[in-house]
Amino acid sequence: MTIPDKIYPRTHDTETVYLKNVITNPNIIVGDYTMYNDFVSDPVKFQQNNVLYHYSINQDKLIIGKFCSIACGAKFLFTSANHTQKSLSTYPFPIFFEDWDLDKKHVASAWDNKGDIVIGNDVWIGYEAVILSGVHIGDGAIIGTRAVVTKDVPPYTVVGGIPAKEIKKRYHDDTIEKLLEIGWWNWPYDKIQRFLHHIMNGEVDKLYP
Ligand SMILES: CC(C)(COP(=O)(O)OP(=O)(O)OC[C@H]1O[C@@H](n2cnc3c(N)ncnc32)[C@H](O)[C@@H]1OP(=O)(O)O)[C@@H](O)C(=O)NCCC(=O)NCCS
Repeated sequence: MTIPDKIYPRTHDTETVYLKNVITNPNIIVGDYTMYNDFVSDPVKFQQNNVLYHYSINQDKLIIGKFCSIACGAKFLFTSANHTQKSLSTYPFPIFFEDWDLDKKHVASAWDNKGDIVIGNDVWIGYEAVILSGVHIGDGAIIGTRAVVTKDVPPYTVVGGIPAKEIKKRYHDDTIEKLLEIGWWNWPYDKIQRFLHHIMNGEVDKLYP
C-alpha cells in the first residue's frame, strides 16, 4: 500500500485530517500518517490557524515526524512572535521601516530567531498546547493539554504545565532505547500492519524480527 493521499482518513469525519495532505507552505514539513483533529475550526486551515507568527522572511521551519497526533487548538509560535530583546525597546521599529527611515532589508531584525520547531515521530500533542520556536520534541513524547513548551522534550517523556516540565517517562530506559532503535514508524506499511497488534499491546520485544 502507498501512503494515503486523501485528506480525511475517516469516512464522514471532516474534523480529522492527514496533516501532510493539507499543507502547502514549503516551510512546514509533515510526515506520513500524522493527523490533526479540530472541532472548532476547519482542520484544513492548520497552517493559518495553528502555525503562528511564521513568515518566510525568517526561514524558520515546522518539521513534524510520522504518526503524530495533534489535538485541537495546539499552536506553534515562530520567530515573529519574539520581539527582539537585543533592542532597548520591544517596539518592532524595523517592521515600520517606512516611518523611521530604516532599511527594509533589515526587517527581520525586529525579532529574535530561535530556529525551527522539530517534532519527532509518534508524538502526541494535547489540546491547546503551545510549542515555542526553537523547541525540539523527541520521538514518542506526550505534551499535556495546555502545556507551554519552552524547552526541548526528550523522547518518550510526558510533560505538562507552564512552562512544561517532565511529569514522567512513558517506559523504563531500556524499553525507550529499544523503541528508538527499532523506529517502527520507518517500517513499510506491510510490516507495521504485520506487527500492529504487538505495537498496540505494548510488546516491544516482539518487534524484533
Ligand atoms: C499529559 C496526560 C496525557 C497525562 O496523563 P496521565 O499519564 O494519565 O497522567 P496523570 O493524570 O496520572 O497525572 C500525572 C501527574 O501529572 C499532572 N498532570 C497531568 N496532566 C497535566 C497537564 N496537562 N498539565 C500539567 N500537569 C498535568 C497531574 O496533576 C499529576 O500530578 P501529580 O503526580 O503531582 O499528582 C494528560 O493529563 C493530559 O494532558 N491529557 C489530555 C490530552 C489531550 O489534550 N487530549 C486531547 C485529545 S487527543
